[in-house]
Amino acid sequence: MREVRVLSTVDEAARTDLSGCAVAVIDVLRATTSMAYMFSSGAKAICPVGEVEAAREQRLNMPGALLCGERNGVPPEGFDMGNSPAEFKEADLSGKEMILTTTNGTQAVACAMKARLLVAVACVNAAAVARYICENTEIEPVYLLCAGTQGRFSIEDFYCAGLVASHIRELCKANLDDFSWAAAKLTQLPVSSVVNAGTCKHLAFLLESGFKTDIELALSTEHDGSNIAVPLYDRDSGCFVPVN
Ligand code: MLT
Repeated sequence: MREVRVLSTVDEAARTDLSGCAVAVIDVLRATTSMAYMFSSGAKAICPVGEVEAAREQRLNMPGALLCGERNGVPPEGFDMGNSPAEFKEADLSGKEMILTTTNGTQAVACAMKARLLVAVACVNAAAVARYICENTEIEPVYLLCAGTQGRFSIEDFYCAGLVASHIRELCKANLDDFSWAAAKLTQLPVSSVVNAGTCKHLAFLLESGFKTDIELALSTEHDGSNIAVPLYDRDSGCFVPVN
């Protein structure tokens, strides 16, 4: 039976051999939520890049692309857009290629490059990603890689891992390891009682920085995910592309 395992931080992922596995990268606040909203606003591809300078260089090869991302929550100088799900939700990104670099999310993606199947997931598309994994691949184990914050555990990513694990267990009768079982159990509590300014340092930081709408969008668990694409990593282009 297929097994679902949670990796609680990027450091833990770096110590794990992910080659040949399926990996879903999670950075709810905010990189993978941003990616979900980029695709829902029509983006054609999202190219994840680890460093700011490398992102600027990549744009030289992709002149029409939008340079997006953050350091300390705000866009680096010369960037077209930040890392704000609310900003991407309102924008018309039809046919656009996006270059994205963030403090934690795109580092987690870099860590999972050896995976055979690599997707990005957030609370808003947890159900859609679980469905995609169950219906399109039998690769195992399935790792749910929590990006965390600067190498540390972050509760919102763990909560999202629980949502994905619950959906996968229900849809394809997968076995949950102890950690993903604990994450799934946690989702029996309302998200606001688990992830709030008292429990989550990064949420408190974003709230203080004026990103309340981003937090609300990121923690919305009402979606069935049917209208939000699954960001699937395409090795040939080095970018995530939307699949349904
Ligand atoms: C990250 O990838 O580090 C986060 O998305 C940071 C942020 O909230 O912008």
